[in-house]
Amino acid sequence: MADLLTQAAYTAFQLGKSNFALAHKNAANQVRKFINPSSQPPIQPLSPNILQLIQQKYQQLLETDWQDAQSGIYPPDLLFDNPWEDFLPTYAAIWQDMPQVWDRALQKNYQDFPPDIDTEGYPKYYLQNFHHQTDGYLSDKSAALYDLQVELLFNGMGDAMRRRVLAPLKQGLTEAFPPKPLRILDVASGTGRTLKFIRAALPQASLFGIDLSPAYLRKATRLLSEIPGELPQLVQGNAEEMPYRDNYFHGITSVFMFHELPAPVRMQVIAECFRVLQPGGVFVICDSIQVIDSPELQVMMENFSTMFHEPYYQNYINDNLVERLEKAGFEQITNQSHFVSKYWIARKPKSGADL
Ligand SMILES: C[S@@+](CC[C@H](N)C(=O)[O-])C[C@H]1O[C@@H](n2cnc3c(N)ncnc32)[C@H](O)[C@@H]1O
Repeated sequence: MADLLTQAAYTAFQLGKSNFALAHKNAANQVRKFINPSSQPPIQPLSPNILQLIQQKYQQLLETDWQDAQSGIYPPDLLFDNPWEDFLPTYAAIWQDMPQVWDRALQKNYQDFPPDIDTEGYPKYYLQNFHHQTDGYLSDKSAALYDLQVELLFNGMGDAMRRRVLAPLKQGLTEAFPPKPLRILDVASGTGRTLKFIRAALPQASLFGIDLSPAYLRKATRLLSEIPGELPQLVQGNAEEMPYRDNYFHGITSVFMFHELPAPVRMQVIAECFRVLQPGGVFVICDSIQVIDSPELQVMMENFSTMFHEPYYQNYINDNLVERLEKAGFEQITNQSHFVSKYWIARKPKSGADL
């Protein structure tokens, strides 16, 4: 009975987030149209069949998120995790920022960095206003808005999609290693939400995060220092060339980064993850769905790149990451899909001495 009530509460909580996100998008569209009727991006309407499919995938993700908590992959409390104390000021700040975002989109101004933002030393592909985001990834303001923007984009399912890395990560670690202190790296750790979930699922593990954005790392540090347990070690650095020794980590995760990388960089990051992973270790990638396994949702993927500045997304949705993982040396590669995200689970072969 208690479980049923908790599940009902979780479903209601998610529905609330979803309805809020849909109402927000609708209001934002209306205001944008009112201010400048010609500023609407030319998006394609979604057919009733597509909307039904998305609804089914949404329900399936809710069910999987609930079941994984029930089976002990992570504590049920995590299902209700939400930065409530920041919600109202952040939501107000999103509206305040919106006219600049629309203007940037209209002007096709994709490298809009004010003089007080230090852009020295970053790769060129990174110096973009991804999603028309003010300051790209390079300011505290951007970091403050990001988490809520992701939840609004994904109708409240951003964290549920992030949590889908936990089951394959835990399973991969359990199969390959004794329960000694494990080292887990989250590549492109952003504001730290995936690391927070990994900490809850694997309280004894030593956690590491790497990201190019100092501002996002600052936000992650604040979030992660609030939770009990060893503080994750966060490093500012490029995932193409990570400051870790060979064969160091037992598990590596990466969430929502690969679609923001040019194809050769995607390959380099995969090779670098292979280098720093221990033989037998598990690598879990979470990113957008791709055309090959969701051709019926191609319209939605195209709308995404029309509405948001995502310069590498069109290439990403047709990229063969299995081939790239194999080329780097990974094996036992499997895929999953949850709602609008796709997962690659891969193993680094055990060395001769381990067999
Ligand atoms: C869409 S965000 C995803 C962040 C986080 N994983 C999440 O789940 O929200 C992409 C992140 O990738 C980081 N990033 C992009 N290119 C990178 C690179 N070459 N090395 C390290 N981090 C990178 C950005 O700074 C940003 O935090």
